[in-house]
Amino acid sequence: MIKENNGLDQLEVLKVHHWTSSTFSFSCVRPDNFRFRSGEFVMIGLNICDKPVLRAYSIASPNWHHEFEFYSIKVEDGPLTSKLQKLKEGDKIIFRKKPVGTLVNDALLSGERLFLFSTGTGIAPFTSIIRDPETYEKFNEVILFQTCRYVDELEFGKHTIDTIFKDELLSEIVTDRLRFFPTTTREPSKYSGRITDWLKSKRFLEETGSDLTPFEDRVMICGSIAMLNEFKDICLGKGFKEGSNSSPGHFVIEKAFVD
Ligand code: A2P
Repeated sequence: MIKENNGLDQLEVLKVHHWTSSTFSFSCVRPDNFRFRSGEFVMIGLNICDKPVLRAYSIASPNWHHEFEFYSIKVEDGPLTSKLQKLKEGDKIIFRKKPVGTLVNDALLSGERLFLFSTGTGIAPFTSIIRDPETYEKFNEVILFQTCRYVDELEFGKHTIDTIFKDELLSEIVTDRLRFFPTTTREPSKYSGRITDWLKSKRFLEETGSDLTPFEDRVMICGSIAMLNEFKDICLGKGFKEGSNSSPGHFVIEKAFVD
């Protein structure tokens, strides 16, 4: 890791993978002496015309991992992602060494089940949390949802789940305790529809075995503003209390950041 003179650090890109025409992920060398809690985000970016352009990105890898992974959309005219999507192995990105966020185990009270609701790239903090053994110390079961418009947009999540079940140590921890519901809304697939609609009908109970109650369940939500508001209203209507780092509760939310 190389220090820049404006309070920012540089990170070297190790791998880049383009999942669809509108999404890609990349990993960097894990910065030295950098600690974060799984689910947190950092400011990352590039120097563009000699000016740092930074955006908040959830760290998609867990806090024990030697690689530092991010999952991003590509916005054609986006000031940062239009350039970031051209990253290659060996390139450098800039990074502010200050992790923050509310999608962390510390902001939730203990519970039986942890539900992780995401749309699109909102899955990124959750691919960190589901690979953190600490999550399974706090919750018996972890149930991840990712809703996308089309089937190909689910590949990053499916791939991460596959790697977990192939990992010698993690697979032992998560067997029978981690479930993944990839759902699509504009193309048929194994699971279809918005989860907010599942929750308003019997479908959620039928698929998960839970009716979502603050007595047993804890919830993290990450997606667009409209999606966050709709899930938040459902949680509040069921008697859930919103948590924070200073006052843990039954559910926490965070916007999935875009250009
Ligand atoms: P839909 O196709 O019915 O709009 P987007 O790309 O617009 O951010 O959407 C990503 C995914 O999130 C889509 O599958 C979309 O469904 C779904 N979605 C959008 N808004 C909501 C919401 N308010 N509640 C639940 N799911 C939503």
